[in-house]
Amino acid sequence: MTLAQIIGTGSYAPSQVITNKDLEKVVDTSDEWITERTGIKERRQAAPGEATSDMAVAAAREALALSGTRPEEVDLIVVGTITADMPMPSCAAFVQAKLGAKNAFAFDVAAACAGALYAMSVAEQFIRTGRVKRALVIGADLFTRIVNWKDRNTCVLFGDGAGAMVLAPSEDPQRGILSTHLRTDGALAEILAVPAGGSKEPVTEETLRTQRHKLTMNGREVFKCAVRALSDTTQEALASCGLVPAQVDHVIAHQANMRILEAVMQRLEVPVEKCWINLDKYGNTSAASLPMSLDEACRAGRIKRGDLVAMLAIGAGMTWGSAVVRW
Ligand code: ACO
Repeated sequence: MTLAQIIGTGSYAPSQVITNKDLEKVVDTSDEWITERTGIKERRQAAPGEATSDMAVAAAREALALSGTRPEEVDLIVVGTITADMPMPSCAAFVQAKLGAKNAFAFDVAAACAGALYAMSVAEQFIRTGRVKRALVIGADLFTRIVNWKDRNTCVLFGDGAGAMVLAPSEDPQRGILSTHLRTDGALAEILAVPAGGSKEPVTEETLRTQRHKLTMNGREVFKCAVRALSDTTQEALASCGLVPAQVDHVIAHQANMRILEAVMQRLEVPVEKCWINLDKYGNTSAASLPMSLDEACRAGRIKRGDLVAMLAIGAGMTWGSAVVRW
């Protein structure tokens, strides 16, 4: 079966910067606490009126340009997001219309911070079977609109952004997305959630008062789960290709917390220098984080043809996964 290859990447971050110092004026926190516990120094915030699909389109245009793909050549658009412009229709539908990708069918995948990895895995299957020739995969989230700005445990962690990649059938049977391993543990749903605003608990005056339509998190449980899950699944994904972590040239990982990344790299026995880091600039951008990192690493010339890239991400659900790509 033909492998899918990533033939172009793009990313977008809003221009508005919120530094840790800015947050000291919003909640009882400090630049020192945030830097030490997370590695985050600043994050971006979407402009008023800017929606997730606007960010997604900006990233997508870059990826399409780099891959030499015209919008009408796109057969499939999959957007990983949990902050779509509105509950219905999908963010992907707006992206399709704004890009003028009139031949593409389009849908969203809800896997929170693992959204882009899940979306890539879905698109990759369509390419492997020959159903689709060009797929646009996007991770985009606008978390500054769903965090509780009074909760210092969470509001300091997140930022807004979008990342995109174009997939096409690989011309070389040795190069492309070799394997994707996706996992879910729904028993952990409550450690990271937006409890109200869905069918179970629609927004009422009471939920607005208690802010239950905003993100809630048990940080320590998320931390523990992330370290174990990401290292295990990466090992599994590599093993399924007959590879071991020592052979990996680059790690493109979801940017949640520097301490999580260090612990994962330590468990994999891969030097942390192989991991692309940008959480200091953007914080945790949820589904955008992995494709934004990939785009930065590509544009910096870090990833060369033939390199082995491991991608890993984890998010609410809990959902997580790893992909192994021969560039
Ligand atoms: N500023 C100052 N103090 C704070 C802040 C803050 N922003 N946030 C929490 N604290 C306080 C707590 O109230 C607590 O005080 P107490 O001891 O008086 O009760 C103290 O700091 C220590 O809190 P902990 O929760 O133990 O701190 P920890 O070292 O676990 O770090 C953190 C918290 C950064 C949230 C960590 O648990 C973490 O990164 N977890 C992973 C969460 C994550 O990445 N979520 C992103 C979404 S999911 C994903 O992307 C994988």
